[in-house]
This record gives sequence, C-alpha cells and structure tokens, in this order.
Amino acid sequence: MSEVAVYPRKTAKAVEAITPPSILIIDDENAIRESLQTLLELENYRVELAENAEQGLAFLAANTYDLVLLDISLPDRNGLDVLEDIHERDPGLPVIMITAHGTVDYAIRAMQSGASNFIPKPWDNEKLLADVSSAVARRRAEEENQQLKRALKQRYNFENIVGKSEKMLRIFDLVAQVAPSRSTILIQGESGTGKELIAKAIHANSPRKDRPFVPVNTGSMPADLLESTLFGHVKGAFTSAISSKKGLFEVADRGTIFLDEIGSMGLDTQAKILRVLQDKKFMHLGGIQEIQVDVRIIAATNEDLKLMVKEGRFREDLFYRLNVITVDLPPLRDRSEDIPLLAMHFLQRFCTENGRPPLGISTEAMRPLMDYMWPGNVRELENVMERAVVLSSGSTIGIDLISDHIVGRAPITSILEGRPDASLFDIMEECERRIIIDMLEKCSWNQTEAADRFHVPLSTLNQKIKRLNIDIKKKIKE
Ligand SMILES: Nc1ncnc2c1ncn2[C@@H]1O[C@H](COP(=O)(O)OP(=O)(O)OP(=O)(O)O)[C@@H](O)[C@H]1O
Ligand SMILES: [Mg+2]
Repeated sequence: MSEVAVYPRKTAKAVEAITPPSILIIDDENAIRESLQTLLELENYRVELAENAEQGLAFLAANTYDLVLLDISLPDRNGLDVLEDIHERDPGLPVIMITAHGTVDYAIRAMQSGASNFIPKPWDNEKLLADVSSAVARRRAEEENQQLKRALKQRYNFENIVGKSEKMLRIFDLVAQVAPSRSTILIQGESGTGKELIAKAIHANSPRKDRPFVPVNTGSMPADLLESTLFGHVKGAFTSAISSKKGLFEVADRGTIFLDEIGSMGLDTQAKILRVLQDKKFMHLGGIQEIQVDVRIIAATNEDLKLMVKEGRFREDLFYRLNVITVDLPPLRDRSEDIPLLAMHFLQRFCTENGRPPLGISTEAMRPLMDYMWPGNVRELENVMERAVVLSSGSTIGIDLISDHIVGRAPITSILEGRPDASLFDIMEECERRIIIDMLEKCSWNQTEAADRFHVPLSTLNQKIKRLNIDIKKKIKE
C-alpha cells in the first residue's frame, strides 16, 4: 500500500489505545475530595486532587485531563470564573460543577456558561458515575473525531467526512488515488451512504477543484427537460425556448459534472451522454454546431446497473464507459464501528448549529444505534441525531431521545452487553424485568392496575417485583 494508505489507519488505532481517563477534582473540602477519589478510582479512573482554584489551574496548565469536577464555592476564587478560565484554555474540556445546598441557581448559571452538568452534595453514587462516564465518553469521542478529521483533512483534503472502518479507509485511499486523474467514476451505494459527499471529495482533491462541481439529479426531470438542462438549447429549439441557453456541460467545463441517479435516465439521453464521454463533444438542442468541452464525469446510482443492462434498461456501452473506476459505498450496517463516530460528528454539528453547549450520548442510547439496521444509512442517522439534539434538555442524549422504532428493533440479546457470562435464563429474567417496569410506568406505578393488565393476581406481580429486585420507591422518585 502507498504511504497515503497508512496515515489515517495509524491515527485511528492510536486513539483507541489511550490510557485510562483522568479526572481532576478541585474542591476545598478534604472529605469530599477523598470520597470522590475512592469512588472514581474503583472505576479505574486516574484521579488528581486540588484544594483550591490556583492549584487546580496549575495542574491544568501542566497536564491533560478528560474531565474536571469543580466545586462551585472555592476559598480563593468564584467557581464561575474558574470555569471560564478552564474553557479559555480548553473549550472542549467537560467540567461538572459540585454544588452544595443553596447553590443550585448558581449551578444553573454555570450550565448556561458551558458546564457539562452539576452534582449536588450529597450525591447519588450511581448517578454521579453515569454523568462522569458520559462526559468522559463525549470528550474521548470528540478528540478521536478531531484527530481523525485532522488526519483526513491533512492527507486528503476531505471536508466533513468521517469513518474509521477498514471499508471506509479503503475507499478514502481509492478516492485519493483516482481523484487527480480525469477518469470517469461510478459511485454505487444504497440511498444515504454518502455518494454525493464522496463525489465532492473527488472533485476537491482533483486539479479541477477551483472550477465548478455541477450536480445534476438526472432522476428528477422528464427526458426533454433533462436534455436541455445538460446540453443547452438554441433560441426556438422548442416552443418555450425564447432565448438560447447554455447547458450544464458547458457550465462544468474544466470542472466536474455529477450525474446523480444515473439509473433513472432514459435510453435516448443515455446515448447522448455516451457521445460526450467518447468524443467530449455535444450540440445544443436545435443547434448545428459541435461544442467541445473538458468535463470530468462522476455518476452515481443506488440501482444495480448490471442487472439493468441485462434487462435492456441501461445501455451496455455506456455502462462500460462509466464503470472505469467504481467506488462501492458499503451500507452503514456493514460498518458499525463508524456509527459512534458519525453520531458524535452529527451531534457536534447540530449543537453548534442550534447554539447549544456540546452534548454527550449515554452508553444506553448508543447501544440501539449500533444494533439498528439503518435502511436509510448515514442520512437516517443524521436525522436521528438532529431530532435528539432539538428535543434534548439535559447534557446527555439518553435512550428516551432515540426514536422508538430504533430502540425497539435492537436484538433482544443486546440487553446483556457487557455481561459475557450471562445465560439464557439471565436474558429471560432481564426481559421480564423490563416488561414489568414498562407496564408499571404505563400504569403510573399502580401495581393493582398493572396486575390487572397482565391478567395475573396482584400477589404474583408482587412476588415477581421482589424477585427481580425492582425498586418501586426509587423508580417512582425518578
Ligand atoms: N462518511 C460520512 N461522514 C460524514 N457525513 C456523511 C458521511 N456519509 C454521509 N454523510 C452525510 O449523510 C448525508 C447523506 O449523504 P449523501 O447525500 O452524500 O448520500 P447519497 O448516497 O448521495 O444519498 P442518496 O442516494 O439518498 O442521494 C449527507 O448529509 C452527508 O453529509
Ligand atoms: Mg445523493
């Protein structure tokens, strides 16, 4: 493989192998620092302690952290000022504020100033660990994304394309290799896999990059309109041709034309396109003069052109002309390692577009995204993330913000991910637990009503609730 191929691979691997996440705790109370330290170290975080703002900022200047837990009231500085200082140095560093009774208003102001979250004293260990894990995961994913994007940008000049799966890295290599030539390229892939994005990347990495990239949706127009759009027409060529008009092939001269949905193009238009490909010449509709152009053609389709050739719906000669170099974009379900990366990429984009502070995704919400089949591919994931950002109010995208059809379609065995020793009975028990909690939620935690709807005696439901350790009181509070 060429040197080009190696660079992003190394970067992706290097990011995966990072050390355990490190957390800086800045709090003046010894007991708080120590109990947080113990709790976090048990979960394998690396923890450092500072007892005032000055010490904390000195640590931040000397080391890198994945997260800061910052007391809102410190002896030497106001917590909000410290937060500002931290973000001046590193805008993406998540900071969770530690708040005491009576400082909640203040904590809300901190959230508005970019804190990721706040935890009250005394805290709930489970919730604290969940918030910490989500903030750290977001930080890690953002860093990985940034490094990957930097690598792709540096090496290939790819804007806004992410991917670290072998399949996509191979496509990036291919794109980088073929972009500088003027060869015709056929991009195949299901709807929403990124065909247009790749076509733009090819153009942007070619010597034609300063000339126009002209996309034409060949599937959305009737044949005569498509032909006059592509080839232009002379005055009077047809009734409504009151003046002459240039075609897109002329507009794209010395640039690239992107013929999208080429499979929907009629056979007559196919013949004319073939002529441009062979002779680099065409005529305006109604014209007699041949026009010479230097246009690179990139075509895209989500149909099986080979099959269309067999069925006589696509010209064989055009197929072979177009199929000089083929880029086959894999469906998203075949490259699930790209899903978290893409999800974070869209999350960042929609937060910026909506003027929101950066959001994370909970592990629970990520799981169904990994398991879903994504019939609409990357575009569908993009829409799901946009919806989640717009509907979210907290600092993390939880499973409640992921559309029901995605959560519902996850394979049932995924509920035990992270428990490799679980047996069939464990899976059945977990299912039973979830079904009961779901029904109780529907019945506003009224057990009599839930027992009724399950058609079992109340005593049976009570026994199951006990056996499955469903903490009704806690759930009601949540
Ligand atoms: N690898 C990727 N990284 C980042 N964004 C992506 C990637 N692939 C696709 N997208 C985004 O997903 C959306 C769909 O991509 P695009 O329009 O290129 O797909 P398409 O294959 O042309 O779809 P269709 O067949 O429906 O026209 C776009 O918003 C695009 O920016
Ligand atoms: Mg498209």
